[in-house]
Amino acid sequence: MRTQKKLRRSGAKIMASLILLLGSLAYIMALAVINGSIGFICAMGVTVFGAVGVAKALGEAIALSYGLIIALTIGCGVLRGLLRYLEQYSNHYIAFKLLAVLRDKIFGALRILCPAKLESKQKGSIIAMITSDIETLEVFYAHTVSPICIAVTVSIAVLLAVGFISSWYLSLVALIAYLMIGIIVPMISSSRLKESGVRYRAEFASFNAYFLDSIKGVKDIVLNNAGIEREQEVNRRSELLLKETKKMKHASTRAAAATELTVSLFIIAALAVGITLVHFNMLTIGKMIIGVVAVFGSFGPVIAISALPSNLTQTFASGDRVLDLLAEKPAVLQINNSNDITYENLKVTDLSFSYDSQIQVLQDINMHARCGEIIGIIGESGCGKSTLLKLLLRFWQKGSGEIAYNGIDIDDINSDNLLDNVTMVSQSTYLFDETIEDNLRIARPDASSDELEQACRLASVHDFIMSLPEGYKTQVGALGDNLSAGEKQRIGLARAFLKGSELILLDEPTSNVDSINEGIILKALKEQKSKKSIILVSHRDSTMAIADRIYRVKDGKMQEVKV
Ligand SMILES: Nc1ncnc2c1ncn2[C@@H]1O[C@H](COP(=O)(O)OP(=O)(O)OP(=O)(O)O)[C@@H](O)[C@H]1O
Ligand SMILES: [Mg+2]
Repeated sequence: MRTQKKLRRSGAKIMASLILLLGSLAYIMALAVINGSIGFICAMGVTVFGAVGVAKALGEAIALSYGLIIALTIGCGVLRGLLRYLEQYSNHYIAFKLLAVLRDKIFGALRILCPAKLESKQKGSIIAMITSDIETLEVFYAHTVSPICIAVTVSIAVLLAVGFISSWYLSLVALIAYLMIGIIVPMISSSRLKESGVRYRAEFASFNAYFLDSIKGVKDIVLNNAGIEREQEVNRRSELLLKETKKMKHASTRAAAATELTVSLFIIAALAVGITLVHFNMLTIGKMIIGVVAVFGSFGPVIAISALPSNLTQTFASGDRVLDLLAEKPAVLQINNSNDITYENLKVTDLSFSYDSQIQVLQDINMHARCGEIIGIIGESGCGKSTLLKLLLRFWQKGSGEIAYNGIDIDDINSDNLLDNVTMVSQSTYLFDETIEDNLRIARPDASSDELEQACRLASVHDFIMSLPEGYKTQVGALGDNLSAGEKQRIGLARAFLKGSELILLDEPTSNVDSINEGIILKALKEQKSKKSIILVSHRDSTMAIADRIYRVKDGKMQEVKV
């Protein structure tokens, strides 16, 4: 069973943090609140001035002429429309502007966290975060903060107006009604709705992640004839999601019904109080009509906030996840104001590393490399070869020991500069659904066509690219599935050649290529080596044959072996 995710922050903390993100947009929010409040009071004005007209007809001493009353009624209606437009405009301006800011922040956070922290994060939940979580926050900014402020402002204005013009008893009834409708009833329903929003979002993210994962792995599902089981699991999760959706909808419908009932009861109460006051001659009938009509018309903003909890629980869950990601500490910190180098040599001394401070992957490793050398690294699967390469790129923070480039420790070299000096072709190259040329240019955007071609020749992939219908302009299929593993691998290699870094780390560069292409690639590597260091991880003896020196990793230790 999956454990249910609890909110890590309180609702108030989430709201405060989200409002803090408003920054300089706060004044537009204030504008939205002012427009909304005056707008609603204008809307009330239409009926209240109607009531004033009726009161005057009943003999109430009212200083306004009928003409003026009609003009004020129409004026209120027109102004209401205009202010409503301005309010909605400001709210959505803030919401969408903020969504852009939030997306930017999330991408910024992902950029700092990657690649280390993203290895463990479910990609599906990140996609859910970028799409639906942020959309949910739009609701918060456009339809939560200002309705609350508007409800408070309008309620206070109505209480005072009714008190001064009509009766303070009616104001008291209105005050109790506002507290019941806006706070007490929603609190009771929100205790029922509690966590159902969180569960729904969690189920939604989990379903998304599982579904996306299944689509990505559809080939392996077919190969293992595991379609039925997979489908059953998709159905099971879909049922769970549906159940959570139903529960949530059920709870919010009940909450809405409770609010409607409370409003009706208070309308009857206000009328009863008004009639009683008239009966005991404490209020004229005209003033009673004005006061009661004003109270009747004033519930809109509090009803709006009573509908918030069902949204709010979802908003809090979304906000919590987004804030979590923004607060997540990266595995490595970016280094900016330190040393820049031009790679000449590498020396690793007594390097130890573990992913979770429990199982030691590498222990007191020593190795070195200098320009003009090809270094081979061999060892059983899972012994830590790829891990070592990732440490050389500072994808993870090393434990004890030293990784020194030109005698400078890796932690004292600017991150961008390090990635300019060192490049890696990993075990799996990702190709974007763009053209082959775009995919190559990611290594060096300003490369000329000749340089592209030269890199592809070195990686033994130029002829293949030219055989495609549109050559370098050919679109790579989604997920790069249209290309074979070997072709992808060679494009990855071409990227590395194009980048022109002085230290090239190759993780199994020839595992998927035939011996002819392997020969071409190895020849290219040999030609490159005079100016560069190449560190090569491979299980293939034929590939290892080009290494000048070879290290073997075993049980976390590394030893140089005779070639
Ligand atoms: N992000 C990670 N978090 C925790 N453990 C990890 C992580 N990445 C790798 N490991 C573990 O670290 C060990 C070394 O993995 P690594 O990928 O370096 O092996 P390798 O020598 O490259 O294997 P192969 O030859 O199969 O590519 C493995 O036991 C692996 O399960
Ligand atoms: Mg590996």
